[in-house]
Amino acid sequence: MGFFDSAQEVLDKGVSAAKGAVSGVAVEQQAFVKQFVRMCEDGWQQGWHERNGGNASYRMSPEDVQSCKGFFYDTPSSWVPLASPLINLAGEKFLVTAAGSFMRNVPLDPVSNIGIVEVDDQGAAWRIVWGFKGGGVPTSELPSHLMVHAVRKDVTIGADRVLYHAHPDNVVAMTGVLPADARAFTRALWKAMTECIIAVPKGVAALPWMVPGGTDIARATADAMIGRSACVWAQHGMFASAPTFDEAFGIVHAVEKAAGVWLKAQAAARTLGVEPIEIPDEGLRAIATTYNLPIDDSMLD
Ligand code: 13P
Ligand code: ZN
Repeated sequence: MGFFDSAQEVLDKGVSAAKGAVSGVAVEQQAFVKQFVRMCEDGWQQGWHERNGGNASYRMSPEDVQSCKGFFYDTPSSWVPLASPLINLAGEKFLVTAAGSFMRNVPLDPVSNIGIVEVDDQGAAWRIVWGFKGGGVPTSELPSHLMVHAVRKDVTIGADRVLYHAHPDNVVAMTGVLPADARAFTRALWKAMTECIIAVPKGVAALPWMVPGGTDIARATADAMIGRSACVWAQHGMFASAPTFDEAFGIVHAVEKAAGVWLKAQAAARTLGVEPIEIPDEGLRAIATTYNLPIDDSMLD
């Protein structure tokens, strides 16, 4: 059976029975898939995923692959070349949201709204091996997801596995008043709310507005995230990278909350004609010491 010729028909017979002799826990029932789906649902509940906004990916562990591969298509899709090879992703498999899929629909119908892609043994191309029922394809931001995974896998020595792209409105609104500069964003966010430096001790990167879905924004984001686990995309949204779903979601949640507090405090201060009161640099240093945080000191005065 091939992915494109018969996936729909086979999957309509039931995922667990798709390959006849296959037994075991269906892909949708695997713990990592449930956590992935929960993150999509939680983001929708937060209001970060209008229409098809946002996407997510997870670099599967060898154990995840082992427990799912019996359900992979006998004949996957054909290989799709990458703009440039990502050699450290050779052979990796990723659970990814589908292009155009609505996050609110992921929990209702995972096999149509998410899928698994495999990278070839040169790190030069990818193909679909599971999911995307009904002819779907991976997110249009796959170039960004794969390039950022390649960088974060290296710099975290394999720890980071989850990449989450959301459109949280306070973060996006902040890009309307602050320059797309890591230090400007990091200082504003860290100083607005105590928890933020704990969530992103290396701060957040920030990129000016760019065309989404291409290799230019992918390269810029991957470069920006060499030293940081979060990157703001002006007038668009943000990316977060972490070892777990809880942590990736938590980064976006904390940054978005800090952005909301910052915007409110700035607006209120202006209305009242007072200077906004913020956590001083010594205060941020003290939080870092207390919680033993590996902060980026260049963000502080
Ligand atoms: P996709 O539907 O292709 O994932 O695109 C959504 C998005 O947020 C683009 O940046
Ligand atoms: Zn987006």
